[in-house]
Amino acid sequence: MNSDLEAATVQKDWAPARSGQGEKAAKKLHVKSFGCQMNVYDATRMADVLAPEGFSETGAIEDADLVILNTCHIREKASEKVFSELGRLRRLKEERRAEGKDLRIAVAGCVAQAEGGEIFRKQRAVDIVVGPQSYHRLPELVRLAADGPAIDTDFPVDDKFNHLTPPTADKIRTRGLSAFLTVQEGCDKFCSFCVVPYTRGAEASREVQKIVAEAEALTRAGVREITLLGQNVNAFHGKGEDDEIWSLARLVERLSEIAGLARLRYTTSHPNDMADDLIRAHGEAAKLMPFLHLPVQSGSDRILAAMNRKHRAEDFLRLAKKIRAARPDIALSSDFIVGFPGETDEDFEATLALIRAVDFASTFYFKYSPRPGTPGAELADQVEEAVKTERLARLGELVEAQRAAFNRAMVGRTVDVLFEKPGRRPGQIGGKTPYLQAVHADGPDSLIGTVAAVEIVECGSNSLFGRLAKEAR
Ligand code: SAH
Ligand code: SF4
Ligand code: F3S
Repeated sequence: MNSDLEAATVQKDWAPARSGQGEKAAKKLHVKSFGCQMNVYDATRMADVLAPEGFSETGAIEDADLVILNTCHIREKASEKVFSELGRLRRLKEERRAEGKDLRIAVAGCVAQAEGGEIFRKQRAVDIVVGPQSYHRLPELVRLAADGPAIDTDFPVDDKFNHLTPPTADKIRTRGLSAFLTVQEGCDKFCSFCVVPYTRGAEASREVQKIVAEAEALTRAGVREITLLGQNVNAFHGKGEDDEIWSLARLVERLSEIAGLARLRYTTSHPNDMADDLIRAHGEAAKLMPFLHLPVQSGSDRILAAMNRKHRAEDFLRLAKKIRAARPDIALSSDFIVGFPGETDEDFEATLALIRAVDFASTFYFKYSPRPGTPGAELADQVEEAVKTERLARLGELVEAQRAAFNRAMVGRTVDVLFEKPGRRPGQIGGKTPYLQAVHADGPDSLIGTVAAVEIVECGSNSLFGRLAKEAR
């Protein structure tokens, strides 16, 4: 910890003082999130926990009394972005001070966890540093920050979810018809390139009862689609309503019983945790969408071993086949890293071969970024930047062609669309296919919040266009 700055650490036994909403002076909060969906979810929970302290959210950073940067540490670029952002905030803080007003700056998320008190040293304008497992302590940290830098990057034994404030129904409604819900957090896999096991801690699953209660509250407020989140969501093993340990498949089955809920998804999965009951659920649970994000990272067995992924390319191909047998209309998406240390042209060709063999609907691809503290960063045979750039472009060309072909093949098909908002033009409404493609169709606003069959008639560069096929269900 940063002893020279004497950052205050929240007491372990601290319990939040319950206060009625509106009791405290009205203050504005702006949360800016980087990184993955879990950060998007965490941002909402941070806002919820600060609401009883008198903080209401603002989209305009200039109006905020407290700005939280909810950060990502996954690649060097993501991490660096935080400090340029903080530079801008420091200037805003100085302008405020000149007007006799105050602006508090908090750094949350994975950079906060990885760098801790070092952040205060790099940017003195920062008031609060809070890790992903401690943000339920934000109210106390905000109070402490009045007297100087405040930090909490502990991995508390007690589950933070037990201390979070549930959002009001009104709040849920402003967040839209699709919601995230964290069911599992942390990772024990230790892939040799990845910081997540260090920033999010060990794998932990929430209790089924709490998840069901949160899903029901979301649905009561109008949410129609829930994406279950976890760094390794298919490793979910939460205590069930019968005190047994439930798998993700069983959780999906239970959540499918919630009447108002139309769609379920989950992300992100590890291939090694695709259990048979989960694969079966894809064929049986009607609400589970036929779209699965399954990162594989490389198609070379040598590189997969060096990455500590603990499976071979062939295992992934067999798994993809098995999943498609259970649910023939399923589409797969994935993540790839190019230029992991030691990756030869031959290894890279093996990755392209795997991509050709699987045919992904959508793919994310990254240049390997050596991360401090990970085994990969210590490896001698780092790949030259120019080679990474060239491989990224080649891989990109292949997967973008697959994505475009998948989208084009939608034309002529009739698919269910969850309508979520008014479209760009009057008389138009916008929604998503089971494959998360944006669709626009002519139709009444009354269809927003419903699922309707839509015949896809055109494929644009960013979205599909369709015609309502029959009555909304
Ligand atoms: N939990 C997920 C994803 C974690 S991070 C999983 O198990 O796959 C999201 C993606 O970022 C990863 O799938 C990987 O492709 C990429 N990534 C992680 N660390 C990286 C690094 N050091 N350099 C480049 N890409 C990285
Ligand atoms: Fe990172 Fe691997 Fe864990 Fe995914 S499974 S979060 S890539 S260590
Ligand atoms: Fe980034 Fe942390 Fe998510 S490192 S990808 S914000 S788990």
